[in-house]
Parts: sequence; C-alpha cells; structure tokens
Amino acid sequence: MAKLVVFYSRAGENYFGGQYRRVAVGNTEKAAKQIAALTGADLFKIQQKVPYAEDYETCIQQAKADQQAKARPELAELPDSLDGYDEIYLGYPNYWGDLPMAVYTFLEAFDWTGKTIHPFCTHEGSGLSGTGQKIARACKGARVAEGLAIRGSDADRCEGQINRWLMAR
Ligand SMILES: Cc1cc2nc3c(=O)[nH]c(=O)nc-3n(C[C@H](O)[C@H](O)[C@H](O)COP(=O)(O)O)c2cc1C
Repeated sequence: MAKLVVFYSRAGENYFGGQYRRVAVGNTEKAAKQIAALTGADLFKIQQKVPYAEDYETCIQQAKADQQAKARPELAELPDSLDGYDEIYLGYPNYWGDLPMAVYTFLEAFDWTGKTIHPFCTHEGSGLSGTGQKIARACKGARVAEGLAIRGSDADRCEGQINRWLMAR
C-alpha cells in the first residue's frame, strides 16, 4: 500500500522568535516535502477555499474565531478517496494547542479504519500539545503513532530530526 503526506501550511507573514517575516513557503510545507522525499510518499496540501489572510494579525483573528466556533472551513479540494493508502503522515502548525480547523474538515471527510497516522507539527514553543489524542478522537479506527514536533524556525534544517523520527517508525 502507498504512503501519503497530507499537510496544512500557510505562506505569508509569520512570526519567528520575536520577528515578523514574510515567507513564500510555510514551515509545515517545508517539513512535509522532506518527509515525502524521504519516504517516497504522495503529497496532498489541505487548502481552505477562502484562505486566512497573508497579514499575520488578521490571520490570528480569523483562526481564533474559527477555533472558538469549532468551524469546519470549506476546502478547495479533497482527494476522491484514501483507499490506496495505509500510512498517512499528517502535518499541521500548532494553533493554540490544536490543529487548524481546516485539518478537521479533512479528517472528518474520510473513514480511517485500519490506517496508521504519523502526526508531525511545527510550532514556536508549544510542541505537539497533545494533538495526537485530538487526531485519534477525530479518526476512529486509526492507529496514531508517536508524533514529531519541529520548531518552525528550524524547518530549513530539520532533515536529521525527520530522519531519526522516520527510522523509529
Ligand atoms: C493562528 C496561529 C496560532 C498559533 N498558535 C501557536 C501556539 O499556540 N503555539 C505555538 O507554539 N505556535 C503557535 N503558532 C506558530 C505556528 O505554529 C508556527 O509558526 C508554525 O510553524 C506555522 O506553520 P506554517 O508556516 O506551516 O503555517 C501559531 C501561528 C498562527 C498563525
């Protein structure tokens, strides 16, 4: 069976260790591409139909409102099926100890029975924050393996960390 890397990531203005910086490719996307290259997995990016703002402060407000409302933002597209995949690497930024709400939109669209999910998150200090349990609750029947937390500002130099995590699978 094939492997799939599914991830959510945001380009635009972000906050790195005390500084705002505009990036063309988000931190989780950088990690996701490395995992796909190392595992030979297919790659799918979860994208909202109406993306959050480029501007960091506006994005914070939008994401906070969605989290408080437990919103399920509509996605630009979904794969027809995950039937061909048994190992799924699920990547997301830590948003206040949780997944971005659009990741739940994705997770709730599929039957996870018999699949293994390998969570990886990028963050600025909070690590995984127990998101593995949240994923397990949203994905009934899946085995959720030990996750990997990457500091967002290290996304350009995390290959060693990713390799060690993959080797331990
Ligand atoms: C809306 C929002 C909320 C965030 N909340 C947290 C948080 O609670 N803890 C944390 O460590 N980082 C937090 N961050 C930082 C992101 O998790 C971090 O920058 C991540 O690497 C962004 O990934 P991306 O570039 O793939 O979108 C937050 C960022 C945003 C935009």
